Amino acid sequence: MTYNPYDFYFKKAKKEWYKARSAFKLEEIQNKFHLIDKNTKTVVDIGCAPGSRMQYTISLLQKMHVKDYKVIGFDLKRVDMQLPWMYAYAQDITEQDKVDAIFAENWIEQVDFIQSDMAPNTIGDKETDAIRSIGLLEQTLRVYDKYLKPDGKFCTKIFMGPWFDEYVANLKKKYGWKSIKVFKPESCRRESKETYVIKI
Ligand SMILES: C[S@@+](CC[C@H](N)C(=O)[O-])C[C@H]1O[C@@H](n2cnc3c(N)ncnc32)[C@H](O)[C@@H]1O
Repeated sequence: MTYNPYDFYFKKAKKEWYKARSAFKLEEIQNKFHLIDKNTKTVVDIGCAPGSRMQYTISLLQKMHVKDYKVIGFDLKRVDMQLPWMYAYAQDITEQDKVDAIFAENWIEQVDFIQSDMAPNTIGDKETDAIRSIGLLEQTLRVYDKYLKPDGKFCTKIFMGPWFDEYVANLKKKYGWKSIKVFKPESCRRESKETYVIKI
């Protein structure tokens, strides 16, 4: 099947005011795993630009009447949008000291939910792209280790390829076999190697 940039989810995103179709993947994941709930106060969004997941997350927190929430986003690009209690930083997530300084200036010691939709620059070769994706994730694990609450949840995009099974096995060892799930939402393009590793 040929890639159609103006497919169903692209049109749906336009109609529902989302900045990108990425929001629907998170919506499907949320509907299945209920990662965000009334106790979710602090959310970190890695690879947040242009901001569709922040839009979805904030509207959900507001619908749930969560008070005092904070959604902190990181991306290499700027987010051209402002929503209540949303703080988006044009900041490479792998720059540890700068990322730590941002957590400190927002008075964040622990996080309830981390979502990562980060994608490296792809070259079109699925194997190389998958290796780059895992390489980039490895560099962000420190954020999870340092800031995720012991009962915190995450949802991380990853491209399937060499080392995928080993990567997931390591997460299962670290967080418990029953806590880690692998899920590919319907709204991902069928031909894409993109999938999600989720901690419930
Ligand atoms: C698929 S887009 C994200 C879409 C976004 N989640 C949304 O809902 O609108 C992937 C993003 O990952 C970002 N990215 C890639 N490497 C990064 C890094 N080292 N640090 C932060 N963001 C990065 C890219 O700039 C790009 O905007």
